[in-house]
Amino acid sequence: MARHYSIAIDGPAGAGKSTVAKIVAKKLNFEYIDTGAMYRAYTLKVLQNNLDPKNQNEVKSLLDSTDIYFIDNHIYLDGEMVDDEIRDNRISDNVSYIASIKEVRSKMVSLQRKMAERKSVVMDGRDITTVVLPKADYKFYVTASVEERGNRRYLELINKGVKNITLQSVIDDIRRRDEIDSTREESPLTRTEDSVLIDTTELSIEETVDMIIDLVKGGE
Ligand code: DC
Repeated sequence: MARHYSIAIDGPAGAGKSTVAKIVAKKLNFEYIDTGAMYRAYTLKVLQNNLDPKNQNEVKSLLDSTDIYFIDNHIYLDGEMVDDEIRDNRISDNVSYIASIKEVRSKMVSLQRKMAERKSVVMDGRDITTVVLPKADYKFYVTASVEERGNRRYLELINKGVKNITLQSVIDDIRRRDEIDSTREESPLTRTEDSVLIDTTELSIEETVDMIIDLVKGGE
């Protein structure tokens, strides 16, 4: 059986991880696994069932009856494609609570490890280099200044036609998410010593992709 390779990418919201990871995966013919999308899908399920995202017992109650998987880069929740629904603001506002629950994380981690056993993957998230795939072949920590990340997210929302937002409110929201993601008890976002640090504040998407590809190809 051919050996499978794994590229693990962690970093805060808005650093460009998923855009970059998707392109890297395509160039290398690996599968891209967006682990944030999995936490979002579970958040969608919690909200669809009218449960309180801050009530851990309620949130945990659906875990055993939940199926989350990818087909051709689309995310499925219990057999239904939910690519668009999981990007809704309601999901973004609640996902950090869901992602801080230990039992939710262990289910997602186990699904993610199985995905990496089957294929060569580029996987991005907050705990990929630390918990999910600590022995990944290549590990990266992709970040950018909070102002730059806020600015990118703001432009993305404006382009989508979202109204009534200010750059400052978007930056504040990213700061709040950074705080929750990096101070939570369960698998907080941190950079491992052996992850290559890429600060994309002054880098284009192409430059970031090239950096990763060069490192991967150079290590072959
Ligand atoms: O990358 P994103 O914004 O789609 O992630 C959504 C949320 O899920 C975010 O609050 C961080 C959390 N997350 C996580 O805790 N662990 C991961 N591996 C991926 C995302």
